[in-house]
This record gives sequence, C-alpha cells and structure tokens, in this order.
Amino acid sequence: MTRLVVVGSINMDLVTVAARFPAPGETLIGDRFVSVHGGKGGNQAVAAARLGAEVHMIAAIGDDAFGDPLRDGLASEGVSIEHIARVEGSSGTASITVANGENEIVVVPGANAQLTPAHVSKAQQVIASADAVLVQMEIPLETVEATLRIADAQRVPVILNPAPAQPLPSEWLRLARYITPNQHELATLLGADASEDFRSLMRRAPCPVVLTRGGEGAWFREEGEPQHQAGFDVEVVDSTGAGDTFNAAFAVYLHEGLPIAVRKACAAAALSVTRLGARGGMPHPAEVEALLARQRV
Ligand code: RIB
Repeated sequence: MTRLVVVGSINMDLVTVAARFPAPGETLIGDRFVSVHGGKGGNQAVAAARLGAEVHMIAAIGDDAFGDPLRDGLASEGVSIEHIARVEGSSGTASITVANGENEIVVVPGANAQLTPAHVSKAQQVIASADAVLVQMEIPLETVEATLRIADAQRVPVILNPAPAQPLPSEWLRLARYITPNQHELATLLGADASEDFRSLMRRAPCPVVLTRGGEGAWFREEGEPQHQAGFDVEVVDSTGAGDTFNAAFAVYLHEGLPIAVRKACAAAALSVTRLGARGGMPHPAEVEALLARQRV
C-alpha cells in the first residue's frame, strides 16, 4: 500500500451553481447551493485514500463551526488526522461559482495561514516513513519550503502542486521530485511570460514537470522531450477538484512508472469532474480501471 503524507489546506467550499458567471456589479439568481468539504490539501488526501493509499494529513482547522466537521470528514474517508492542528479563528473557506462545468473560486485561507514549519517538523517521523509527500500552495510559503527541506533531508520524494501559483526560487524547485502545474502556473512559477509555449517552459524548469491541460490530458518530462498523454472523454458537471484528483492519483500510481501514473491520473481526474463538488466524483480504483478499459487513449 502506498503511504503518503499530504501537507496542505482544508476549506469549507460554499458552492453556487448558476447558468453563467455574474458580471462585475451584477446580481444573478443561481440554481443551487451546496456546502461541501474541500481545500486542495484535503481534496488530495481524500482522493488518494479513495484510491487505496494510506494517507496522513498535516494541516490546520479553525475553532469555528466548520473546523471539527472538516476534520471528521477526512477521518471518515480513512485519512489519518493525528497531525491536523486546531488553531484559533476561522477555518479556510472557498466561495465557488460553477457555471457550465467551469468554476471561479475565491479562497480565504483562515486557519490554513496558521500552518507553520513547526507543524511539519513535529510530523517528521511520519514523513520519514512515507513513499511520497504531496504539498500545494494554499498554506504559507515558509511551510512549503520547510516541507521540501524536511522531506529532502529524509530522502522522501515531494510532489509539489504549485497551486495557486507564485514565483518560487529555483533552489526550492530542485528539491521537488516533480512539480505538477498547469501552463499558467508553470509560467508564474518560473517568472516567465504567460504566452511562452508550455513545452519550452517545461524544458526550462529546473526539475521534472507533469503539466496538466484539462480535457486535453497532460504532458510530462523527466528529461529530453515532453511526452503527451491524451485526456479521457467524459461529461463535465464540475471541474473543481480535477487537479487535486490528478495529483493524488499520480502520487498513488507513481510506483508503476511515470507514463502509467500520468495515464491513470488523467483517468481519475476525468472521473472526478462528472459530479458536483471537489470530492463528489473522486473515484475508487475499480472506476479508474473501468475507464482505462473503455477508452484506450
Ligand atoms: O482545487 C479545488 C479546491 O480549491 C477547492 O476545494 C477549494 O477549496 C480551493 O481550495
């Protein structure tokens, strides 16, 4: 069984479904509202657990009404919550509008901003025994850096999902075994022009890159020329959490080799968009295998 540590955010997602996005200053009547558990870190932890991994989460929740349900939701998915700290103040929230399968998200970090390098340090032992660590960027950058350094010192590979993106020092990127940006995130990360061809950006990155392209699948490059994995054809209900499912599946299947991990990650991400909510469509292994058998892309 793959053993993963996820260092990242946990949010309450306040999701409104509407026929289209409102214009600035416009009030629009929506179709539906749901509040569901999210956050890139929590989502990646749940997706990996559903795919059969043993998952330990390092995160922070607030002492508000959202905190305990968010933590209990992770526990009910089989994620270890031993390293989830309860801090003073609000839990993270995300206001999400979904229209025609696309989403717009505003995140208020809340407790996620209080996840410190000390929290990661305290969990060193669990990191040392992991097959891989997954970290995103909805937590303080100093905590991302601490995760990269602590895992590197223990020789544990880190998959850095640079979302939401900010420019990062090359030295940090070299500590990651893989980075998993989309095109916009990779350009931001490298401080490059957003119009630069993504293949050229991938060649310039100081570490191996797995670049997600939504419905077009993913590109990956360890060294040499970037390779392409086509996307799977599904009916899109809500794309929220597709990137998180991709990252989790990539980490879970990495022991099968890079091309297979990317293919299975594309399949898992495709399944994730077929239901509402970041975690709504996250698949179990049998669903991934069934899609792979149905569509030989
Ligand atoms: O990646 C999707 C997630 O981004 C949502 O669950 C939301 O909480 C934001 O963190």
